[in-house]
Amino acid sequence: MKINYEILSRRDKVQLTIEPEILDSEIVDNSRPLAIISDENVAKLHAKPLCQKWKKGGISCQLFTVPAGENSKSSETMTSLQLQLLQAGYGRDCVIIGIGGGVVTDLAGFVASTYCRGVPLILIPTTLLAMVDAALGGKTGINLPQSKNFVGTIYQPESIWIDPNVLETQPLDSFRDGLVEMIKHGLIWDANIFSWIEQNVERLLKKEPSTLKKGIIDSCKIKLSIALRDTMETGLRRLLNFGHTIGHAIETVSNYEVSHGTAVAIGCLVEGHLSHLAQSDLDRIAKLFHRIGISLEAAQKIPAEKITQAMCYDKKGIHSVPRFVTLEAIGKAHSHKGDYCTFINENEISKALEWMHHDLHKLARP
Ligand SMILES: NC(=O)c1ccc[n+]([C@@H]2O[C@H](COP(=O)([O-])OP(=O)(O)OC[C@H]3O[C@@H](n4cnc5c(N)ncnc54)[C@H](O)[C@@H]3O)[C@@H](O)[C@H]2O)c1
Ligand SMILES: [Zn+2]
Repeated sequence: MKINYEILSRRDKVQLTIEPEILDSEIVDNSRPLAIISDENVAKLHAKPLCQKWKKGGISCQLFTVPAGENSKSSETMTSLQLQLLQAGYGRDCVIIGIGGGVVTDLAGFVASTYCRGVPLILIPTTLLAMVDAALGGKTGINLPQSKNFVGTIYQPESIWIDPNVLETQPLDSFRDGLVEMIKHGLIWDANIFSWIEQNVERLLKKEPSTLKKGIIDSCKIKLSIALRDTMETGLRRLLNFGHTIGHAIETVSNYEVSHGTAVAIGCLVEGHLSHLAQSDLDRIAKLFHRIGISLEAAQKIPAEKITQAMCYDKKGIHSVPRFVTLEAIGKAHSHKGDYCTFINENEISKALEWMHHDLHKLARP
């Protein structure tokens, strides 16, 4: 399955290919030197074998590895990579290939967008979250000690190659984070996709290839439909933040002990409650999160005042007052006159956080 899309504002063309075993085929040309950026886990499992195969095929390529984990999205790692590229003789004619999860695709994207004022980029996402979210839409970035993703660029790769087979090696815990983003895409954009996930959740959890491929294609289409209409995040793209105003606050307050997927799942339910979704819809959403193995217990433990404080730093906020994406129903978000997010009065937010503590865990279970 190939999807070609054009970034109209910049005339960039991106080719997205989603195909099991695509990485086993001859996909790279040998006319440009390749610099592969990966993390230690993915290098061992996927990037090193690919690099060796390409070398055998006469392609000039070298692998640059960073430690696995969020800490590698730092200015130190970025500078070190740029120096290593320079020392290895890479110039404007090279291509950077990021092979890994969202940490690697964000970091490699940022390096590619700044090295020699920008060199071509190819992304090979290897986590479900990177396939349906991080690798699509052109956002790149690194963290500052004070704030996640604070420094970055909008830079489109020339190609994205998605091989669902690489997910066989992804641990289930982080695989669930990707499933939560797929569910979020259904919630904000397409009720049929939400229902399809409900019907296929066991097959997705077993990583059945044809089911995974369909789920990834549908989810990528939703992310692209939204991100390409609003590359600079001035309106529609805010929808992708559904569940994330509360979710990011939970991650921060828990010192990142609560995973992104769990925090966003709780965030989707609390923001669904703030949207006045019917009880039956909230039950349906909670049931699906339970079925993919997300435990919602963290919701009872995080102090409401700390969540309120942490939400002041949300990027959608104005003058430190948070704004929320809200839903009319499963599959349909409110447009709020093109802002796609809205202020909600303090009292209602406090009540919703109380509901999170005392009632969220009473929602239906499978
Ligand atoms: N740019 C964007 O639009 C965007 C959107 C969402 C998230 N992100 C970013 O993505 C990052 C999170 O990405 P993530 O969840 O993929 O985490 P990650 O990149 O840290 O990967 C999770 C873990 O899985 C390992 N891994 C990756 N692929 C594997 C595979 N196939 N087999 C075995 N192990 C594998 C990694 O080494 C790592 O230890 C965050 O930094 C977030 O800010 C960016
Ligand atoms: Zn997310």
